[in-house]
Amino acid sequence: MTEKQDLELQETARFHRRHNYLCIAALQIFALVGTALWFARPTADLLIKLQTTPNDNAHYELAKNVLLQALQTNYAGNWSKEYSEELQLGGTNLGMVNYTLHQFEKLGLQDTYIDSYTSYMSYPLENGLNLLKNGTVVFTPKLVEDILDEDPTSKHSVPAFLGFAGNGNVTAEYVYCNYGTHDDFKLLAELGVPLEGKIAVIRYGKIFRGLKVKFAQEHGMVGALLYTDVYDDGEVTEKNGYKAYPDGPARNPSAIQRGSSMFLSMTPGDPTTPGYAIKPGEIKKRVSPYDVIPRIPALPISYREVQPILAKLKGKGPKVDSWTGSVDGFDYSIGPSVDHTLNLYSKQEFNVTTINNIMGKIKGKDDSKFILIGNHHDSWTPSAGDPHSGSASMLEIIRAFGELSKTGWVPSVTIVFAGWDAEEYGLIGSTEFAEYYQAKLKKECIAYLNTDVAAVGPILNIQASPLLNDVLLTSAKELIYPNSTKTLYEHFISNKGHIGTLGSGSDYTVFLEHLGIPSVDVGFSTDPKKSPIYQYHSIYDSYHWMKEFGDPDFVFHNALSKYLSLVILHLVDEPILKLRTHDYATALSSYFHNLEIPSQWSIKKCHNPVKKLIKHIEDKLESLELNTLENDANLEKYSQMHENWDNLSYYQRIKLHFKTKAANTVLTYFERHLLDDEGLKGRKWFKHFAYASGRYTGYQGQELPGLAEAIEDHNQKDFEAKLVVFEKILGNLNNMRIR
Ligand SMILES: *[C@@H]1O[C@H](CO)[C@@H](O)[C@H](O)[C@H]1NC(C)=O
Ligand SMILES: *[C@@H]1O[C@H](CO)[C@@H](O)[C@H](O)[C@H]1NC(C)=O
Ligand SMILES: *[C@@H]1O[C@H](CO)[C@@H](O)[C@H](O)[C@H]1NC(C)=O
Ligand SMILES: *[C@@H]1O[C@H](CO)[C@@H](O)[C@H](O)[C@H]1NC(C)=O
Ligand SMILES: *[C@@H]1O[C@H](CO)[C@@H](O)[C@H](O)[C@H]1NC(C)=O
Ligand SMILES: *[C@@H]1O[C@H](CO)[C@@H](O)[C@H](O)[C@H]1NC(C)=O
Ligand SMILES: *[C@@H]1O[C@H](CO)[C@@H](O)[C@H](O)[C@H]1NC(C)=O
Repeated sequence: MTEKQDLELQETARFHRRHNYLCIAALQIFALVGTALWFARPTADLLIKLQTTPNDNAHYELAKNVLLQALQTNYAGNWSKEYSEELQLGGTNLGMVNYTLHQFEKLGLQDTYIDSYTSYMSYPLENGLNLLKNGTVVFTPKLVEDILDEDPTSKHSVPAFLGFAGNGNVTAEYVYCNYGTHDDFKLLAELGVPLEGKIAVIRYGKIFRGLKVKFAQEHGMVGALLYTDVYDDGEVTEKNGYKAYPDGPARNPSAIQRGSSMFLSMTPGDPTTPGYAIKPGEIKKRVSPYDVIPRIPALPISYREVQPILAKLKGKGPKVDSWTGSVDGFDYSIGPSVDHTLNLYSKQEFNVTTINNIMGKIKGKDDSKFILIGNHHDSWTPSAGDPHSGSASMLEIIRAFGELSKTGWVPSVTIVFAGWDAEEYGLIGSTEFAEYYQAKLKKECIAYLNTDVAAVGPILNIQASPLLNDVLLTSAKELIYPNSTKTLYEHFISNKGHIGTLGSGSDYTVFLEHLGIPSVDVGFSTDPKKSPIYQYHSIYDSYHWMKEFGDPDFVFHNALSKYLSLVILHLVDEPILKLRTHDYATALSSYFHNLEIPSQWSIKKCHNPVKKLIKHIEDKLESLELNTLENDANLEKYSQMHENWDNLSYYQRIKLHFKTKAANTVLTYFERHLLDDEGLKGRKWFKHFAYASGRYTGYQGQELPGLAEAIEDHNQKDFEAKLVVFEKILGNLNNMRIR
């Protein structure tokens, strides 16, 4: 948050405190001297409200029935097929951009347009890999997937490449680096394995792939080869008797996982415009991208083709018990490979390309506030799962709201829909949009709802800001889980059990972690014990796979559309915004109490600032728990009063009107107060005090990252500085009262 915006927020809070005093005073006058004074200056809004008699619960039920009725018909499979025919790398898929824009219009969105930015991108030109023995080539992987007759889109041959990997042609001995995590590299160094000048062979899993390449580069390695180990597929493998795709649910052994090699936990978005964005025609400076993308070349490879390479490490160098997997003929020795070398070649065109987001909206009664629903439209292959299960579900949601709008229904605030470009390269479309419009978003955006991989299996997964817990769980209670008698809520509780915290890896990142906008990411994922393997970022993430294995009747696509439709409806159809504060307080308390603060930092000493700060923070967390409990109780009370509007006196209605405005302002800006303008050490772009992409994980979130990282780094000074910030944030949150 800039100082100016911070001041604006404080100003807003002050305004509302002042405003409330004024209201109470005015209401007393009203009670004493009658109506004349008041009706001299009512807002139009108030007049309408006083005259109409909305029964909000009935209103919600009516709208809900229209939405669910529309979604009784399920076109998700039709959209899925349309979307997953063609190649569609970020910045290249103009036909699909047009198609989506057209559908947005046709299904009833207003003000549709294409929102473009220019971004640094990379596109594959050539690649190559050779295994050499004593200088002679003994094996040349093809680096392409098998074309399958059953799966028509597998004919699109997409090169094996990693977005933003460096250009280079390197020949060197290679080393097996397990998952390539920070800890794995630490252990390799401890074991004395020579890494400098070698090529890293790293299996997928645990962390974001770009960070694997980053850590390899930081250890002086000259290239990276990322492979898929079916060990990480769990139960559903050929070794356990399952047939491989297309004959069965196990992974096709030729599947290659493409993806971005950006260092996602540093800064997402265009790597040459951190924190800002450039629209076509604008002249702004670009910075060097190498803080966030690798210089070394890197390639992905299939399980089948890595086998002869890894087998040559057998018996060479040390072994770590927990580093084993399923590659035949490989004993998971680390190497180096000594008499064998790899020649790894990757060449891409790096250029500045126009990327295109598609936007559209349903205008609310109050068009100065909105909720945003987004999904990306680019992918590595013509992917039915990532993202087009999301694209299909989102068009279904738009279709349902289009039907609802035809009845004359208007949401209380605007609903904006977005199709983001270049998410796969590093969340580029959403990040550039949100950086460009950050002031507007911070002021007007109430919540961001993300779908991406919306349905590739039967298990509902939800990660969200705690402000949204209530609306997410309430909506889940209103739907039946497909083909069952239990509710979606019961399914969720008996499977995932709880709403997780957001890290990174999809388009919510900028909204939550840079701008402090309450966000959620939701989708149906696979059951690792029995679901068909989702062949992520491979050519087999196809319509055929989806139809045969992923979601054959598109029922989970449909369930997701119904679910998000109700979440949206709750957010835009109730007079009191359906955000609740108490879960945030308990979340912050538990994150804080889970920190493993070194005892020597907080021992009893006179004037030990850390000890004192911890005490203050604990007190403020306790107050926050009580205050937010009261906030939420008042919110329920006001919601009830709205439902009982008919029976309220004019005096009560006026009072409720102003209470509602004040409450909604508090709810809209509550999470903004968690922004820390300083950002995280070494990655200032991440400004949310409670949530960030883990610096060593990328995907997985880190709670209270500033504090947790200072502990990890044994840096008491940084820890103390972040405690000061936390105390201030808690002070501000304690002022966000709903009375
Ligand atoms: C949707 O797909 C189904 C099955 O392929 C087909 O029968 C139906 O006609 C399609 N509907 C539309 C509106 O395209
Ligand atoms: C997209 O639509 C516009 C306007 O209809 C047209 O000019 C353009 O050629 C289309 N582009 C593609 C790739 O279909
Ligand atoms: C490698 O090649 C060198 C010279 O070409 C030869 O002397 C040596 O025996 C070879 N080593 C192996 C293991 O084949
Ligand atoms: C890459 O390097 C190898 C080994 O030095 C060489 O044989 C090959 O021609 C190079 N490839 C390209 C495209 O430069
Ligand atoms: C960027 O490179 C790709 C791949 O070579 C090419 O198709 C595209 O036209 C280039 N874009 C620009 C703006 O030069
Ligand atoms: C749900 O039930 C329908 C009809 O009985 C069936 O066709 C479909 O395969 C079932 N879907 C799932 C996911 O079990
Ligand atoms: C208003 O009060 C009457 C009488 O007490 C009651 O029957 C009715 O249900 C109330 N209306 C609402 C909307 O609660």
